[in-house]
Amino acid sequence: MSLELSAPAQSAPGCANDDDVWLECIECGEQFAPFDDIRYTCDDCDGLLEVRYAEPPTFDEFEGRGVWRYNAALPFEVGVTLPEGDTPLHEAPRLREDIGVDKLRIKHEGMNPTGSFKDRGMTVGVRVAKELGVGRLACASTGNTSAALAAYGARGGMETLVLLPSGKVAAGKIAQASLHDARILEVDGNFDSCLDIVQELAARGEAYLLNSLNPFRLEGQKTIGFEILEAHYEDYGEYPDRIVLPVGNAGNTSALYKAFRELVQSGSLDEDQVPKLTGVQAEGAAPMVEAVREGNDEVRRWEHVETKATAIRIGNPVNAPKALPGIRNTGGTAVAVTDEEITDAQRDLAGEGIGVEPASAASVAGLRKLRQSGEISADESVVCLTTGHLLKDPDAAFAAGDDPEPVPNDTEAVIDHLHE
Ligand code: F0G
Repeated sequence: MSLELSAPAQSAPGCANDDDVWLECIECGEQFAPFDDIRYTCDDCDGLLEVRYAEPPTFDEFEGRGVWRYNAALPFEVGVTLPEGDTPLHEAPRLREDIGVDKLRIKHEGMNPTGSFKDRGMTVGVRVAKELGVGRLACASTGNTSAALAAYGARGGMETLVLLPSGKVAAGKIAQASLHDARILEVDGNFDSCLDIVQELAARGEAYLLNSLNPFRLEGQKTIGFEILEAHYEDYGEYPDRIVLPVGNAGNTSALYKAFRELVQSGSLDEDQVPKLTGVQAEGAAPMVEAVREGNDEVRRWEHVETKATAIRIGNPVNAPKALPGIRNTGGTAVAVTDEEITDAQRDLAGEGIGVEPASAASVAGLRKLRQSGEISADESVVCLTTGHLLKDPDAAFAAGDDPEPVPNDTEAVIDHLHE
C-alpha cells in the first residue's frame, strides 16, 4: 500500500521530470509527469494524486528559514513568497499544567503572512501555476484559503477568483480577499457546494484550482511537520509524541503524514518516532471523527453542517483517503468538541497571550477532552496546531472576550470607575 508508513522510496518512472518528481495516484498507482498537463485527480480512476520524489529529504539538507528551507522536500528551489513559515512553537505553561500533560507546545500558524497556514500551500501552489502557465487562479473557501490565494495571486501578478459560502465567512478573511483584489463570488450554499462548483469550473478550463485537492498545496503544508520536529528536537532532544490539529478538508492531516513518511523513507526518522496524528472537528461538522471512531474506510458526506468555528464548517473532507491512513498508521485518533469547548479553549490560549480564531482552538479543546477521557496520558509531550490568527474573526473574539466599558472624558471619573 502506497500510504504505509514503511513504504520504501521508489525509483523515478519515465514520466518524472529532470528533478525526479512525478505525480502518482494513491488509489491505482498510475503515474503522471508533474507539469506537462493540468490535472488534480487521476485520469483513470479519479483518485487523489500525490507528488512523489525519487530522493526523499533528510534533515541535514534543510537550510535557510521558512517554507523554502525545506526545498529538498519540494518540487522547486523557491516559490512566490511573502515569505511564509518559520512560525513560533509557543510554550503555554499554565495551560500545560491545567490540562495535565508532560509537555505542551502551541505551533501558531496564525503568524504566517496572511494569518493562516494556507500561505505555506500557496507559496508552492502559485509557483506551480506559473510553471503551468495558467491565467486565472481559483478556490472555494471558508475564508482563509481565499485570503491566502488573493495575496499570493497578487504577489505573483495573477488574477484570482474565490467562491465563498454566503454569510458564513469571518469578516477579516473577506476583507483580505477583497483588498488583495480577488473577484469574490458569494454562493448561496455551504463550503462543500462551493468546492463542487469550483471543481467544475476548473474541469472546464475556467481557472486553475488551488484548493487542497491540488497535490502541490499539500507539499507546502508538509513544512509544518518539518518545523515542529526540528524545533521540538532542538528544545527537548526528542520528537513530540503527538500532534493535535483541527480538521476541515483534512489537508493538513494528510500533509503532516506525508512529511513524516518521507523522513521515514530517507532513514531520518524511525517509525516509532512519528507523532500520533490526532484530528479534532466541531460536533456539528465531524464526518472524519465519525469514520475514525466507527472504523470506516470511507467518510460519509454530511449535508448539513454547523459550527461557530466557520473555518472548519465542512461536511465532505476531500482529503480523507490520505488523512485516514495518517491518523490510523501513526496510532492517532479523532475527537469532536462542542462550540462551547472551542470558545473556552480560545479564551485559555488568549490567557497565555496566544490569539487564535475559533477553529484553531479546536485543537486545544480536543486535547483537553482526550486527556479527560484518558485517551491521552499525562506523560505525553503534545504539540497543538493553531491554524489561524485571532484577527481573522473579530466577531468571535468580541463574543468570547470582555466588553469595553464606557467612561467619561475625565481622570477623576475614570479613577472612580476603576474603584467601583
Ligand atoms: N483551521 C483553519 C483556521 C482553517 O481555515 C482550515 C481550513 C482548517 C483549520 C482545516 O484545515 O482543511 O487542512 O483540515 N480552511 C479552508 C479554507 C477550508 O477555505 O480556508 P484542513
